[in-house]
Amino acid sequence: MTSSDHIQWFRSAAPYINAFRKKTFVIALTGEQVRSQLFINLIHDIALCHHLGIRLVIIHGSRLQIDELLQHQGVQSRFHHGIRVSEASSMPTIIQAISQVRHTIDARLSMGLPNTPMSGSEISVISGNFVTGMPLGIIDGVDMQYSGKVRSINSQAIHSLLGDHIVLLSNIGFSRSGESFNLPAEELACQVAISLRAEKLIYFNRDFIRNPDTDQFSTAQCKAYLQQGNLPKSLHSLLSQAIEAVNHQVRRVHILDENLDGGLLQELFTRDGAGMMVTNLFYEGLRKASIDDIGGILELIHPLEQSGALIKRSREQLELEIDYFHVIEKDGMVIACIASIPDPQTPVAEVACVAVHEDFRNAGFGDQLLTAVELEARKQGLTHLYILTTRTSHWFLEKGFSEQGIDFLPASKRQAYNADRGSRVMAKSLTEQG
Ligand SMILES: CC(C)(COP(=O)(O)OP(=O)(O)OC[C@H]1O[C@@H](n2cnc3c(N)ncnc32)[C@H](O)[C@@H]1OP(=O)(O)O)[C@@H](O)C(=O)NCCC(=O)NCCS
Repeated sequence: MTSSDHIQWFRSAAPYINAFRKKTFVIALTGEQVRSQLFINLIHDIALCHHLGIRLVIIHGSRLQIDELLQHQGVQSRFHHGIRVSEASSMPTIIQAISQVRHTIDARLSMGLPNTPMSGSEISVISGNFVTGMPLGIIDGVDMQYSGKVRSINSQAIHSLLGDHIVLLSNIGFSRSGESFNLPAEELACQVAISLRAEKLIYFNRDFIRNPDTDQFSTAQCKAYLQQGNLPKSLHSLLSQAIEAVNHQVRRVHILDENLDGGLLQELFTRDGAGMMVTNLFYEGLRKASIDDIGGILELIHPLEQSGALIKRSREQLELEIDYFHVIEKDGMVIACIASIPDPQTPVAEVACVAVHEDFRNAGFGDQLLTAVELEARKQGLTHLYILTTRTSHWFLEKGFSEQGIDFLPASKRQAYNADRGSRVMAKSLTEQG
């Protein structure tokens, strides 16, 4: 990589850095990861995220370490439905194993040796009794003893610490009666992300769904995979948690390849994914339009045509162009639409007829539509999107478009350009990073 590549890469990361500052991410680490050779690099990457202003909560599991320590003491663990029965007599050992993992993470985040990526890094890590646990109880006649589930999370206390500190939570919950419960880390991470209304919940795993067309999955698609019933157990569990989190307002859940060095940074700061993402942001109600949507689209855009925000489109024109439209439907009503009309001669497409119903503005629907159109245009190998706009140039500026001269327009469009309307030509390159 030359130095200009580095600069280009750094610049291309800037929009992500800006978007993530002050956002809350919950990162779930497994006990195995803490042992892995890649762990030290992951810690450097986590430290970097913290220094870039991301509010981080780290949850760690300890399964491997608990197994080892119990084995070392000659204790054979019992499992029921894949969950360890945490017996009273084993709890001191279980707590010891959990504490060891937490100490390792604490110690690694405290490093600051010169000539390392942590040089000059001073990170304050705080752990505490933020999680209340309760017993899982008796399942099919088996008393799960000190294996527990999350009862509540003191999200207010965690919120007050984030930003200045990284909050580190072990897979343990304390009860009102002063007992400690061994919690599943994946579930704890999911519940913490929900209670904090986190922007992202990030898991690591060996297995994830590989689809050559996309690394983004809706909860409906994930449910379909779960129903097929042939997923590896760990992925099954993570997908269930991901669905739960997204259904409770966590915007995006990532399942990253635990064996990929730098996967966290790759997923967060580049367009190349490092695993899979579960979100409904792009999919819930967003779909390609069909001929049945014409009535709904006309109803949506009519007031905007009246006010001059959009150019008038006849029903006939809409019928001809309907395949180029995406819509967002809510409760049977078209609440937003966008068209992306490819030029027949050049690899560019015009974005047109962008409209979000007044009652649904400022909720990110416009952004979702534009993102969907961009994704599709990239897949089709288009080099640019452009738009003619009179009133919304700043909205498009914020989405990475920049103003161009009339000459930018493809020939056919240039001839039809209405100088009286005075629309600005804005375009976005799909080939540059950023
Ligand atoms: C422009 C439009 C599609 C945006 O849809 P949306 O779903 O409200 O957009 P998002 O939620 O993704 O973005 C909202 C943000 O954009 C800002 N925004 C909205 N319209 C804007 C405009 N004309 N110029 C600059 N910023 C604008 C909002 O203030 C909000 O900012 P915030 O997040 O800092 O609060 C919608 O306002 C609309 O339908 N406008 C009328 C039709 C129109 O003008 N279409 C464009 C034709 S070229």
